[in-house]
Amino acid sequence: MSRSLVVGNWKMHASRAQVTDLLSALLAGMPRLDGVDVAVCPPYPYLQQAAGLLTGSRLGLGAQNLAVEASGAHTGEVSGPMLVDVGCRYVLVGHSERRSLYGEHNALVAQKFRAARQHGLVPILCVGEQLAEREAGTTERVIGAQLDAVLDLCGGDSLAGAVIAYEPVWAIGTGQVATPPQAQAVHRFIRERVGRGAATPTLLYGGSVKPDNAAGLFAQADVDGGLVGGASLVADQFLSICKAAFSQ
Ligand code: PGA
Repeated sequence: MSRSLVVGNWKMHASRAQVTDLLSALLAGMPRLDGVDVAVCPPYPYLQQAAGLLTGSRLGLGAQNLAVEASGAHTGEVSGPMLVDVGCRYVLVGHSERRSLYGEHNALVAQKFRAARQHGLVPILCVGEQLAEREAGTTERVIGAQLDAVLDLCGGDSLAGAVIAYEPVWAIGTGQVATPPQAQAVHRFIRERVGRGAATPTLLYGGSVKPDNAAGLFAQADVDGGLVGGASLVADQFLSICKAAFSQ
């Protein structure tokens, strides 16, 4: 099994005061979790503040998006080298909200994945099906196409050392979590699709991960951890989820 990883996706939440409060509580409450990596992804304006608070700690830092380009006339965009410069190690790529609200299609997501790799960031590639797609029995086709876009552009080895987050869109922010067997089935499909070698990526489940369902999800053979939205904004909840990853 890959190393466990738990990542908090803060989305468009927080203020400077909340960043200080939440990270202080996480740093104070985080036990030594051997074999588990933990990271948080605050909004862009708070990355530098978070990096300062996390200096010397075992909590990693990530961003929620990046530009394809490294620099230039791209008003409103933030590039991979900038994220590295302020201390990021991870970056989310192709989150379903980026796909559905901001028109990020598979080809663009693949370009962002490539940009992350080129600049030394660990991409967390988000994939997942809509409810209608699951009901139509096309979950594997949809996720296969999302993965293939990256494999076609970046090559078969490009997922080595990367992270893939399976996030069924119907489970994000809805409280309707995939059952552990549902999550495991898709994770196994992803693992088979990208290959099981030593360089197999870390596979996270995301979508309404909470303290009371995390252990059951993380116990699945192909689930290496979680991508956590709402519960990552509440220190006690996020700490409980991190501990659930450790006890697997
Ligand atoms: P949620 O969000 O945990 O609030 O469902 C997960 C995500 O969007 O990454």
